[in-house]
Amino acid sequence: MTETDNRPLDPEAKPDDRVDNTLRPQHLTDLIGQQQVKENLSILIEAARQRGEALDHVLFYGPPGLGKTTLAHILANEMNVNIKVTSGPAIERAGDLAAILTNLRAGDILFIDEIHRLGRAVEEVLYPAMEDFALDIVIGKGPSARSIRLKLPHFTVVGATTRLALVTAPLRARFGAVYRLDYYDQDAMQSIVSRAVGMLDVSADEEGIVGIAHRARGTPRVALRLLRRVRDYAQVRADGVITRSVADEALDLLAVDPLGLDDVDRRVLRTIIEKYNGGPVGLNTIGASIGEEPDTIMDVVEPYLLQLGFLDRTPQGRVATRSAYEHLDLPYDEKDQPRLL
Ligand SMILES: Nc1ncnc2c1ncn2[C@@H]1O[C@H](COP(=O)(O)OP(=O)(O)O)[C@@H](O)[C@H]1O
Ligand SMILES: [Mg+2]
Repeated sequence: MTETDNRPLDPEAKPDDRVDNTLRPQHLTDLIGQQQVKENLSILIEAARQRGEALDHVLFYGPPGLGKTTLAHILANEMNVNIKVTSGPAIERAGDLAAILTNLRAGDILFIDEIHRLGRAVEEVLYPAMEDFALDIVIGKGPSARSIRLKLPHFTVVGATTRLALVTAPLRARFGAVYRLDYYDQDAMQSIVSRAVGMLDVSADEEGIVGIAHRARGTPRVALRLLRRVRDYAQVRADGVITRSVADEALDLLAVDPLGLDDVDRRVLRTIIEKYNGGPVGLNTIGASIGEEPDTIMDVVEPYLLQLGFLDRTPQGRVATRSAYEHLDLPYDEKDQPRLL
């Protein structure tokens, strides 16, 4: 177990987060923020409904915890169809996918999470299924083998990925619509915390909500988790009401700083700055220095640091920016800095 497994700020889902499922917005109109995605989706939905057709295949990408799975369920709700949930790594063989496909009904949604992790052979079954609603099956072996084509009902694939770059070009080309989810702004984060406070029967004042929203790194899943931790703190150490000072104390205790960075984020930055003179340094080297998987750093640590402008990606590796030095209160010496091309 590495330290990231315990991060209160880990944007990836943990067993504890299951309660959040009850908080999932059910309809497009309940979903806070992501205005542009929402508008595009409502057009997509309306058009499909008017034509009485299945929804076009939709791909969502973006950092974990921003609402990709939620949106897949919302689409099913809005279209009033069934949703079958699976993921890239769960579909091991082509036959597994064939079994799923033959059980779908017209209009159904097949949600494939982590779609960039589909195996090659599986992907090849998916292409004709998405494009022609056809399943090619080989019967027999050797010279007498022949292929027959089964017709599939018109269904919809909703894919989700944190790594668009790893989705192969032919697969990407089969999605009619591709949407990127971005970190939420402060207003949206406050509304999300506020909505959860109402639904969870927690007492919090306006400033307490603002305090939590501030440190949740623009990520609804993190906001909901921090809210639960702060609620515990308020119950045990205060009189049960989440005020700004209660929120601040609780989050300080969790070592979440005012910008929403935790220990792992700070260690990544400190490593680049103190061990590698600000960079550039490769992801693998950073990972080895702090004992984290490079993939974890890339998926769950880096995106937010990039968003804050604390990190730059260069062909030579990662570079810490002046704002990162300032945030960590480390001296920044202009002439020591690598030149960015
Ligand atoms: N726009 C939103 N408004 C309110 N809650 C949200 C929103 N987006 C996500 N959530 C909540 O955040 C949690 C994580 O969302 P999820 O869809 O599982 O993220 P992803 O699949 O992108 O990792 C869910 O529990 C959901 O209730
Ligand atoms: Mg998800």
